[in-house]
Amino acid sequence: MCGQALSPRFRIRLFGRTAMNLDDKVCYCFHVSRRKLVNWVRLNHPKVPSQLSMCAGAGTGCGWCIPFLKQIFHQGTEAAKEPIPLEPGPDIETLSAEEYANQRAEYVKSGKGTPPTGAEPLPGSKPALGGEK
Ligand code: FES
Repeated sequence: MCGQALSPRFRIRLFGRTAMNLDDKVCYCFHVSRRKLVNWVRLNHPKVPSQLSMCAGAGTGCGWCIPFLKQIFHQGTEAAKEPIPLEPGPDIETLSAEEYANQRAEYVKSGKGTPPTGAEPLPGSKPALGGEK
């Protein structure tokens, strides 16, 4: 086991549950929680991951959460019977909410995406005040 990456399940058994819970936000741009997305998938049976954007606009801001929306899609649909296509990047089952927020902040600061007005402020930044120019 030494030198090998731990599977998410084994990591949780060793270190405890670190993954984001249902009340944590997945889409910081549109304030969409994991619970809302999971329920939306359960009730609407989307055919493709991009349909999750119909859940309060999730994924249509900076784009950070799109890989995680795909993971939620695969966990909650018929596609769950098939292996999740491997994509580079973190796994929603192993990130803590704090790690998730910090990695999104790095993503936005590196210029990979631009959050819309009203998005969750980046950790350590001041929230935008209305009327400031
Ligand atoms: S965090 Fe979802 S689009 Fe920005």
